[in-house]
Amino acid sequence: MTQDVLTAPLVTPETAEKDFFPIRGIDHIEFVVGNAKQSAHFYRSAMGFKLTGYAGLETGLRDRASYVLEQGKVRLILTTPLIPDHPYQEHLRMHGDGVKDISFEVDDVERAYRETTKRGAIGVQEPTEITDENGTYFTAAIKTYGDTLHSFVNRKNYRGFAPGFRPITKEDTIARPTGLAAVDHIVGNVGWNQMNDWVKWYEEVMGFHLFVSFDDKDISTEYSALMSKVVASGSEKIKFPINEPATGKKKSQIEEYIEWYKGPGVQHIAMATGNILETVTKLSDQGVEFLRVPSSYYRELQDRVGVIKEPIDELERLGILVDSDDDGYMLQIFTKPVEDRPTLFFEIIQRRGARSFGKGNFKALFESIEREQDLRGNL
Ligand code: FE2
Repeated sequence: MTQDVLTAPLVTPETAEKDFFPIRGIDHIEFVVGNAKQSAHFYRSAMGFKLTGYAGLETGLRDRASYVLEQGKVRLILTTPLIPDHPYQEHLRMHGDGVKDISFEVDDVERAYRETTKRGAIGVQEPTEITDENGTYFTAAIKTYGDTLHSFVNRKNYRGFAPGFRPITKEDTIARPTGLAAVDHIVGNVGWNQMNDWVKWYEEVMGFHLFVSFDDKDISTEYSALMSKVVASGSEKIKFPINEPATGKKKSQIEEYIEWYKGPGVQHIAMATGNILETVTKLSDQGVEFLRVPSSYYRELQDRVGVIKEPIDELERLGILVDSDDDGYMLQIFTKPVEDRPTLFFEIIQRRGARSFGKGNFKALFESIEREQDLRGNL
């Protein structure tokens, strides 16, 4: 693929009009975790999120506990099932801690559910209207890859996060903000030869369009390879890269993920910051672990990406990567997996014009991932 194709999104006026229902944005991302109380501590004290809501025994729930965490426009929900026969127990048993639901904010939940299921989505929760003392809340959900869901939410006439949740308005003294501002993209890993089916699913069911694609020549090292296509919503506010493994001499990082997650699922969540130097300094100081590339990467950097505002020695100290395209450049860095299974991790990204995904970094980055895979005995 040429650089031109990479940076020119494959969107036309016709594709933009294919929105079957308007999506306002990602409402929240819900994780199923083994111990939400302790996970919430990590997201607050290390990642910088503020606790804004809670649901559990104290709010009248008997089967689960959930924590609402917010930073900028990013909203995460951590949920732990409290009883053996809660449906989330199976998710936990199979996948370990991981993403259960990428939830969309929509104006019309009924329509979102009707349009997507009409086009082939499997419904898991029929449109539901809940009215309590805080107003009326609408929700529904469909299945996407693996055991992951897309729920639809409308809380325009609801005060607070959702029924059953208690808002927390007092200052969070544990939270140490790091400047994370919004979700940039969320990546899904799917199995061998499944990528095109899921791209088609997002096109046909959700009205998304193909934004950019990478083949195994773009994304391969001496040992392993993967393929990736990025789908975007009509407005391009939401971007979902979808990866599948490709054949290499050794095991692809996507295969490692699928082996340990026991199927397809969310691989990483990229969160945008307006100042990556500050954000990564804080995250590192607070104990978040990042992947490193060799220092030779920084000696070749200037020639590859041209003039950038950030001092290269600072970038090297923090391990931040840089890539450029026709529209500008972007800075990015990846955490190590944030649970014991080598599954979900985070990306921190700052865009200075560039709309691409760091193709120029793939090789250095994947070699770094492979060193970690090797340490785990999974290469
Ligand atoms: Fe990414």
